[in-house]
Amino acid sequence: MTMEYHNPVLLKETVDGLNIKEDGVYVDVTFGGGGHSKEILNRLGENGKLFAFDQDLDALENVIDDDRFTLIHENFRYVKRFLRFHGVKQVDGVLADFGVSSHQFDVAERGFSTRFDADLDMRMNQKNDLSAFHVVNEYEEEQLKQVFLQYGELRAAPAMARLIVEHRETEKIKTSEQLKKVLKKFLPPRHENKVLAQIYQAIRIEVNQEIEALKEFLQQTPEILKAGGRLSFISYHSLEDRLVKRFIRNGLFEGEPERDMFGNFEVPLKKVNGLIVPSKEEIKINNRARSAKLRIAEKI
Ligand SMILES: C[S@@+](CC[C@H](N)C(=O)[O-])C[C@H]1O[C@@H](n2cnc3c(N)ncnc32)[C@H](O)[C@@H]1O
Repeated sequence: MTMEYHNPVLLKETVDGLNIKEDGVYVDVTFGGGGHSKEILNRLGENGKLFAFDQDLDALENVIDDDRFTLIHENFRYVKRFLRFHGVKQVDGVLADFGVSSHQFDVAERGFSTRFDADLDMRMNQKNDLSAFHVVNEYEEEQLKQVFLQYGELRAAPAMARLIVEHRETEKIKTSEQLKKVLKKFLPPRHENKVLAQIYQAIRIEVNQEIEALKEFLQQTPEILKAGGRLSFISYHSLEDRLVKRFIRNGLFEGEPERDMFGNFEVPLKKVNGLIVPSKEEIKINNRARSAKLRIAEKI
């Protein structure tokens, strides 16, 4: 049996959100298995163009053989730069399906899944130096605490960081099984998977610098979108979704925008629709969809 690379989430809704013009230019910044990209290509005419980004080498094997399509092996935090490199200043729509692909979760050696014992890795880009091993074994106690606190929202973050630092004085923590053993006392049997998922999420976000990349990417979107162009973004955890929501609402990640004497403020985007989430049916056949949140906006 061949395993599917990735079953696209909210496929119709996300691509509908782009309001595709037949001869438009689009970007899918999280290509993965190419599910969303294929649907965009289905809706484009022969003069349409699609550029896609993925930082994972494995994703490159899914490249689509189509003259209208270009796959770029880069981090989407450099989206503007690499679109320019390909002669494109502005596009009609940007699609993002953030986070980890099923493929990344399913290949044990990548170290993303709590289901397997594997070396601590979790790099989306296999060429990067920073891995889960580095975070767990080299970070200062305070840095580790902040990672668990901010990205895992773990109340026991200070004690977890302490324990890891104590343990690694005698022995390096090389595998996910070792990490699990070290943190055993924080994993209550009834909630083991939930807490473990939070710990993994925290380390993964740090390893891939996901928040920094997301912020840099979001800030470029108003510039790379034509007026009336659309963005259609799926997030999978609250930290991500909060940044997307706030950026769409007032062009900022935190705080309130400056208002003029009438109380108005200028924003580059306006939201289209409210929040869209998958149906129960979709979640039943694709468990990865359970935490998905789709937001759509238009460049003013
Ligand atoms: C959820 S999957 C996308 C699946 C895709 N929509 C499909 O239908 O197959 C997310 C993909 O985005 C990639 N990715 C995540 N963050 C990235 C970043 N900052 N730059 C480039 N690619 C990134 C991951 O490597 C992964 O392949």
